[in-house]
Amino acid sequence: MIRPTRILKFNESKLLRIQSLDLKSTMVNLIPKRRAELLEIRKNYQNLKVDDITIGSIIGGMRGNRSLLWQSTSLDPETGIKFQGYTIQECQDLLPSVSNKGKKENFLPESILWLLMTGEIPTQQQADNLSKELATRGTKLPEYTIKIMNDLPKNMHPMTQLAIGLASMNKSSIFGEKYQEGSIGKNDFWEYIFEDVLNLIAALPQLTGKIYSNITNNGEPLGKFNENKDWSYNICSLLGMTNSNDSLNTCNFNDSQSNDFINLMRLYTGIHVDHEGGNVSAHTTHLVGSALSDPYLSYSSGIMGLAGPLHGLAAQEVVRFLIQMNKEISSPNNEAEIEEYLWKTLNSNKVIPGYGHAVLRRPDPRFTAMLDFVKARPTEFSNDPNVTLMKNLSDITPKVLLEHGKTKNPFPNVDSASGILFYHYGLKELLFFTVIFGCSRSMGPLTQLVWDRIYGLPIERPKSLDIQQIKNICKKTSSV
Ligand SMILES: CC(C)(COP(=O)(O)OP(=O)(O)OC[C@H]1O[C@@H](n2cnc3c(N)ncnc32)[C@H](O)[C@@H]1OP(=O)(O)O)[C@@H](O)C(=O)NCCC(=O)NCCS
Repeated sequence: MIRPTRILKFNESKLLRIQSLDLKSTMVNLIPKRRAELLEIRKNYQNLKVDDITIGSIIGGMRGNRSLLWQSTSLDPETGIKFQGYTIQECQDLLPSVSNKGKKENFLPESILWLLMTGEIPTQQQADNLSKELATRGTKLPEYTIKIMNDLPKNMHPMTQLAIGLASMNKSSIFGEKYQEGSIGKNDFWEYIFEDVLNLIAALPQLTGKIYSNITNNGEPLGKFNENKDWSYNICSLLGMTNSNDSLNTCNFNDSQSNDFINLMRLYTGIHVDHEGGNVSAHTTHLVGSALSDPYLSYSSGIMGLAGPLHGLAAQEVVRFLIQMNKEISSPNNEAEIEEYLWKTLNSNKVIPGYGHAVLRRPDPRFTAMLDFVKARPTEFSNDPNVTLMKNLSDITPKVLLEHGKTKNPFPNVDSASGILFYHYGLKELLFFTVIFGCSRSMGPLTQLVWDRIYGLPIERPKSLDIQQIKNICKKTSSV
């Protein structure tokens, strides 16, 4: 873990170049203006009404209530996720990647982290610097975390392992230590939260590799960390899934498969970083952080929510569904049999996994990005019956769900493609997929945690009502 070498003060920021090359200096430059904006809004618009809270929303999961401040992403029902206003396609066009003999690879998740934190597209050098900074911070897990991970039952649920590993690292929380000392004021909290956040994100490749080695290799390493490589590369090599000297290459990848898998990891972890603030993992991280719990405890709590089957675990359900369907139909191209299978599923009161969304009302652009990855590699995927079925389902299922008439969004969400691509390359432990989701999702909610402390947002404490109070409100209205 890297300690902050020097804490920057605002008057020093004037001396910094307009375009700083490291993330923290760039943040320092942004903060005064952003704080002033929020102060202005608070002063002038405190009592402006935004939304109505209905009985339906109180008992219906607060769906659609506009009641959270979330800085870096927003989700439009029609166009899908935007990262600081940029679509996935724009991110693919604009965000820096690594250069591979002049060929443009998928953008780096490090680039999108910079975008989320600052609202600005990083230059190549800024992205490279952040990538290097994460690699330097992530070289080694703390000894006590390694010990705890070694002592866990090897067959423990991978998400439980991830939550335990993250929570254990709160022992090295710089924010926690400074807070205990009583040595920092409210305006400075963000700098120590920021240090913890970068250390946490940097540790995820090692932690993920450790969990995968626990569940597949009795805890023995499958690869080694390379400080000169990017974050996604290190996730792949620590899973033993590159053909470089850094990894056991357990899936016998050739050069092209190895490079494609790393790019799949960059794509997957790049587009799963955030889905605005109301989803379970993001909101939980923000809520727990509002009590000034440090980022390790806050994100560990978010991970517990991501482990739920209606949230992060859906990708694994899709893989099971595709494999089972392929066993029961004569060919992944047989439309009539696919339709029949879908109706059989719906008529037995089950959902079609990978379809529908609480907010989206169009095909998920993250699904489209995964499908484009497949389309760009016809030789690799044309003989995989599960991938063929996944593609065919995206045409057939919306028609069936529309006819069925219940689902508000009959289109594919990201989970209908993501897990089956990991499966194709050799990740067969379905429960593990969500750990990779957890690596990616750290970036959005933890960015928000930094901004929560920059803005000095208070502890969250909505008012709850019991059934009698709800009945009283209903009675009052009906007697009017
Ligand atoms: C994502 C999901 C939880 C959203 O739930 P939601 O906001 O309540 O969805 P809707 O408002 O469209 O639900 C209306 C009805 O359609 C049903 N429905 C929604 N998606 C469905 C699907 N994929 N297959 C069958 N029925 C579905 C719901 O179960 C609900 O039925 P009910 O009225 O009998 O309870 C839901 O679409 C779902 O379970 N999808 C499958 C799991 C999945 O892919 N999750 C990953 C999400 S990224």
